[in-house]
Amino acid sequence: MQNFDYNIPTKVYFGKGQIEKLGEIKNYASRVLMVYGGGSIKRAGIYDQAVSVLRENGIEFFELSGVDPNPRLETVQLGKKLCLDKGLDGVLAIGGGSSIDCSKAIAAAVKYDGNVWDMTSDWSLMQDALPVFVVSTMAATGSEMDAYAVITNTETNEKKDLGGDPVIPKFSILDPKFTYSVPKFQTAAGAADIISHVFEVYFNRTPKAYLQKRMSEAVMKTVIKYGPIAVNDPKNYEARANLMWASSLAINGLLSNGCYLDWGIHPIEHELSAYFDVTHGAGLAVVMPAWMEHVLQDDTVEQFAEYAVNVWGVEAEGRDQYEVAREGIAKTRDFFVNDLGLPGTLHELNVPEDSLEMMAGNLNGVLTGTFVPMTTEDVLAIYKACY
Ligand code: NZQ
Ligand code: ZN
Repeated sequence: MQNFDYNIPTKVYFGKGQIEKLGEIKNYASRVLMVYGGGSIKRAGIYDQAVSVLRENGIEFFELSGVDPNPRLETVQLGKKLCLDKGLDGVLAIGGGSSIDCSKAIAAAVKYDGNVWDMTSDWSLMQDALPVFVVSTMAATGSEMDAYAVITNTETNEKKDLGGDPVIPKFSILDPKFTYSVPKFQTAAGAADIISHVFEVYFNRTPKAYLQKRMSEAVMKTVIKYGPIAVNDPKNYEARANLMWASSLAINGLLSNGCYLDWGIHPIEHELSAYFDVTHGAGLAVVMPAWMEHVLQDDTVEQFAEYAVNVWGVEAEGRDQYEVAREGIAKTRDFFVNDLGLPGTLHELNVPEDSLEMMAGNLNGVLTGTFVPMTTEDVLAIYKACY
């Protein structure tokens, strides 16, 4: 296990009725920008509840609505302008990862004189940010408890992340009932995203991070148990609650502290979202099994066989490790397609076949330090295997 500093500073208010805690914004800010998406929070009654608590507590707010899934740089710039024009001192995200990420980028942009897009190439440019507060309405990205924001630049067709301590939410309100209205497809895509965050941590080259491995398996098994229940029974509190907490734990540092990591799967998906507006978790569900098959080799087979046994209960006694590993990968694909009902190919996600080479080319030199380093040819082979 490597050295690490443990610091997960987001205060979490988990459970029914926790929206009342929104008043705690007063401890940090008095005039906030409320950032949300296309209106699901209004339809689900979350907007009204939030507004009522803000008013009761005398917190002034201005609104930026219409944040797109795969949030865009121009929306971030609009939010920055609103904050500066109105003299706002905090950003409140109400929504899924897109609204939260957009809020984080706005919060950082306000404190930076240049174009916030610069930060996607140089994270050290983020020195300060307005405080960020979150009401999460989806179990997926874990953005409610992490330091990252992923933004799409539609001019250059790039989807890149920025990150830093200043944008870690001060607090996040996680009421599982707020996720009851998430549609089946988004629930399923969110479950796949949670699992992907664990994969990025679980498959690593750090020796003897035993505890992290076992905790990661617990999070994966939770999603495997409750993902399909939430898809088929959207108002099942137990399922929604377990997914919501799994979403945060998958990426908040708990599973990754002490491990050497350089994420290798997400960049392969981000190309799909950047060019074809693919839903992040749905793209990942297609890419992940193909990635696993591609990186299965003599120095990784033990980890994949361990995954098959511990997560999927595959029988290993007297069997070849490759056979065990391949059964685990097959079960993973089956889970995404048959249990969660997600598409199984890039073709179904409307990604044109003649774009595969170009997207693979964009990742030239990007995936060199990952679990298994990838050349352009490797990435292309994965895309082709997914088609
Ligand atoms: O537009 P609204 O009204 O918000 O509707 C959204 C959207 O249509 C809807 N939705 C959210 N909560 C709902 C709901 N519908 C009904 N009831 C509710 N309670 O679901 C749709 C998808 O929302 P979005 O916020 O886009 O989903 P998600 O949470 O999956 O976020 C995806 C974005 O996060 C990035 C992704 O790349 C993508 O851009 N990621 C952020 C990460 C991070 N910050 O750490 C890590 C992830 O790997 C990921 O890359
Ligand atoms: Zn993700």
